[in-house]
Amino acid sequence: MDREILKKYFAPKKFTLIGLSILILFGTAIGSITPYIFGKVIDLIISGRISSILILMLLMLLLEIIGAILSSIENYFGSKVTLEISNLIKIDLFSKIICMGMENLDQYTKGELINRIENDTSAIAKSYLDFITGIFQIVISVIVSFYFAILLSQELTVVFILFFPILYGGTMIFKKKYKQSLERMKEFTDKLWGFTNEVFGNFEGLKSNVLESFFQKKMGVMFTESERVSKKFFVIQGEMNFCQNAINAIFDCFMLGVAGILISNRKLSIGNYVSFNQYIGTLTQATAQVMSFVVGLTACRVSVQRVEDIFNEPIEDVSLSDKNKVGTIENIKFESVTFGYQDALVLKGLNLTLNGAGMYAVVGKNGCGKSTLLKLLLRLYRQSAGNIFINGNNIKNFNLANLRQQISYIPKNSFLLNETVRFNITLGRKVDDKSLAEICRKVDLVDFIESLPHKYEEIIGENGCILSSGTKQKFAIARAMLQNTTLWLCDEITSDLDGDVEKKIVEILQKLAKDKIIIIISHKLSTIDKSNMIFLMHDGCIEEAGTNKEMIGRSCLYRQMFEESLNIS
Ligand SMILES: Nc1ncnc2c1ncn2[C@@H]1O[C@H](COP(=O)(O)OP(=O)(O)OP(=O)(O)O)[C@@H](O)[C@H]1O
Ligand SMILES: [Mg+2]
Repeated sequence: MDREILKKYFAPKKFTLIGLSILILFGTAIGSITPYIFGKVIDLIISGRISSILILMLLMLLLEIIGAILSSIENYFGSKVTLEISNLIKIDLFSKIICMGMENLDQYTKGELINRIENDTSAIAKSYLDFITGIFQIVISVIVSFYFAILLSQELTVVFILFFPILYGGTMIFKKKYKQSLERMKEFTDKLWGFTNEVFGNFEGLKSNVLESFFQKKMGVMFTESERVSKKFFVIQGEMNFCQNAINAIFDCFMLGVAGILISNRKLSIGNYVSFNQYIGTLTQATAQVMSFVVGLTACRVSVQRVEDIFNEPIEDVSLSDKNKVGTIENIKFESVTFGYQDALVLKGLNLTLNGAGMYAVVGKNGCGKSTLLKLLLRLYRQSAGNIFINGNNIKNFNLANLRQQISYIPKNSFLLNETVRFNITLGRKVDDKSLAEICRKVDLVDFIESLPHKYEEIIGENGCILSSGTKQKFAIARAMLQNTTLWLCDEITSDLDGDVEKKIVEILQKLAKDKIIIIISHKLSTIDKSNMIFLMHDGCIEEAGTNKEMIGRSCLYRQMFEESLNIS
C-alpha cells in the first residue's frame, strides 16, 4: 500500500519534487560551505591577520542570503505540493466512502470517517513528502559535511564514525511502544469526532431535553481520557528525547576531550575545531532527522493502515449501463427472504408477491422490519438467503444504478441538502418552471415556496432546517413525482402531514396506483385503508394479507394496531 500511495499520488508530482530536490541541493551545498569559512575567520582573528577577514565575511553574508532565499522558495513549494497531494488522497477517500455499500458504511461512525479523511490523509502527505525531500537533504549535507570534517580533522571524524551507531540506535528501542501509543491516540480521536458530530447534529434534541450540562460533563470526561492517552504518548516521546539527548551529551563531552588533546598537541587549530564542530552538528542533526523520519514514518504507517482499511472496502458498482435495465415494473416477489443486520434476524424466510399496479400497504409493529423490506428492494443491503424478483428477474442481476433510478424511494426522513428549493426537488435534473410549479401545486407546496424571498432559488439550510417536517415530506413527494417511476416505496410519508394534506397525498397516490406499484408503510389507518392489499408483518414474515375490511375481520393484531382509529371511524 505504501508503494501504491507513492506511485499513485506522489509520482504525478515528480517534476515538482525534482525541482524541490534541486533547490534543496543548492541550499544545502551553500549552507555547508559557511562553517568552513567561519573557522577560517576565527583562525585569521587568532593569528592577527584582520585585513583578510572582510572579504571572507562578505562571502559568508552572500552565501547566507542566497541560502535564505532558496529555503523560502523551498518551503513554499514543499507546502504547496503537500497540500495538493493530501487533497488528492482526500478526494479519492471521499469518493470511495460514498460508493461503499450500506453494510460496510454501518461499520464506521461518521466521526471516524471524517477523522480519516481530514487528519490521516494530511499526515500521510506530510510524512512522505518530508521523507522524500528530507532524505535528499540529509544525503547531501552528510556527504558535504563528511568531506569538510575529514578535511579539517581525520582523527575526530574517526571518533564520530565510531559513535554513530549508538547515536542512531538510541531511539529505535522505543519504536514499537511509540506506534502502539499513537494507534490508541488515533482511535480516541475517532471517538471524539464521532461524539462531536453526534452532538452538533442534534442541537434541538440536546436543548429541548436540557442536556447541555450532560454533554459538557461527557466532553469533560472525554478530554480527561484524551489527556490520559496523550500523556502516555508524551511520556514515550519524553523517554525518546531523553535517550537521544543523553547520548548526544556523552558524545559532545567525549569529542571535546579528544579535540582538547589534539589542539594541545598542535594537530588541530581552534578555528578548524570550531568549523569541525559545526559540521558534526550538521551530521548529528542529520542523524536526528533520520530518526525523526523513522518515527514519523511509524506514525504515518498508522494513518496509512487507517486509510487502507477504507480503500480495501468493497464498493458498489453504481455506473449506469444499458445492460440489464429494469424497465416498467409490473410485479415484485420476495421468495423466502432472510436477513439480519447483525446476528439477530429481522426477516425470516419472508414471502410476498405484488402482482400488477396498485396501492399496497405494509403494516406491523415498530421494529418488525417494514423499512428493511424496502431497503432490500433497493439493494441497499443484501439478504442472506432467498431471492427478490422484479418482473420475474432476480434483482441482483439488474444494473444497480438503473434499479435505484427506477424506484422512487421516500424514506421517513428524506435527505435534504443545503441548496435551493429547486435543486432539492429536481436533484439537478432539467425541469421547466411550468412542470415544476405544477408538481409543487399538486403537493400543496406552491404557497409556501411563493412566500419565500427567493422563491425556487431560496437556500433551505443544512438538512432543510428552514422547513417544517410536513413541508420536508412534501418536498420528498414532489421529488418522487418528478422521477416518474413505476415503483414507489413510501415509508411513513404522511406521518407529519395534517389531515387535509394527508388526504390529498393519499388521493394522488391512489391515482398514481392506476399504473404504478405503490408500496406504503404507515402506522396511520387513514393512509392505508384504501389500499388494494394490506400486508401485516410479524416475526419476520407476512402474517396476514387482505383489504382493510378483510383484515379487520381476520387479524387480531391488525385490529389492535388500529384500534383507536377504528373506534373513531
Ligand atoms: N442499520 C441497522 N443496523 C442494525 N440494526 C438495524 C439497522 N436498521 C434497523 N435495524 C434493526 O432492524 C430491525 C428492523 O428495523 P426496521 O427499521 O426495518 O423496522 P420497522 O418495522 O421499519 O420499524 P418502525 O415501524 O419503527 O419504522 C429493528 O430491530 C432495528 O433495530
Ligand atoms: Mg420503519
